[in-house]
Amino acid sequence: MTEPSALHDTRVAYDAVASRYAELFSNVLETLPMERALLAAFAELVQAQDAGPVADIGCGPGHVTAHLHALGPTTFGIDLSSAMVALARRAHPDLRFDEGSMTALDLADGVLGGILALYSIIHTQPQQLPVVFTEFQRVLAPGGHLLLGFFAGDDPLPQEFDHKVSLAYRWSPDSLAELLRQAGFVEVARLLREPHEGERFQQAHLLVRKPQEP
Ligand SMILES: C[S@@+](CC[C@H](N)C(=O)[O-])C[C@H]1O[C@@H](n2cnc3c(N)ncnc32)[C@H](O)[C@@H]1O
Repeated sequence: MTEPSALHDTRVAYDAVASRYAELFSNVLETLPMERALLAAFAELVQAQDAGPVADIGCGPGHVTAHLHALGPTTFGIDLSSAMVALARRAHPDLRFDEGSMTALDLADGVLGGILALYSIIHTQPQQLPVVFTEFQRVLAPGGHLLLGFFAGDDPLPQEFDHKVSLAYRWSPDSLAELLRQAGFVEVARLLREPHEGERFQQAHLLVRKPQEP
């Protein structure tokens, strides 16, 4: 099957910058106490549910995958870019990393206890996001959690911006929360923090859960 051109462009762009990205970001969590706290809370919720492993979808070089795995939940990574997957495997040879796209995951229904998607939906065309969120619902077990990280904007509509790697979108947390609600998720918590030095935008995280079956 032919790869849609937007996915192709994102994959080629990340293949080209993978090494540089890994150099810049592999230790970034050391400087992000709020994100570490959120990941710790996410790890605890996923472990309490005990419904399956966590997939870090759009894992890049695998630094967050490894961080979460070390906190307790069995975690593996998935990324569109083969260069990112190769770097992740090299840096974390004890962990599993697969090539794949969040738009059509090669996973059975209900097998995941959690999904991390940190700054990986930012390149998804807005009209494609409902497809991605439906896919996340499909692969999560009832009670499974999803932690989404993204660049925040004030406008209710997604705002395109000139991301260094590939065309990207900022979202208002309310608009993304509404899309997630329409896909069947229940909001658990959200974090909005101001940009650090060198960052351009506010950064947001939404933590949501797939409801237990009635
Ligand atoms: C900005 S990086 C974020 C990497 C990592 N999550 C982090 O927080 O540093 C975006 C990553 O998402 C991946 N990505 C983009 N679109 C994707 C898709 N449709 N499916 C899977 N991965 C995707 C890219 O290849 C890239 O590695």
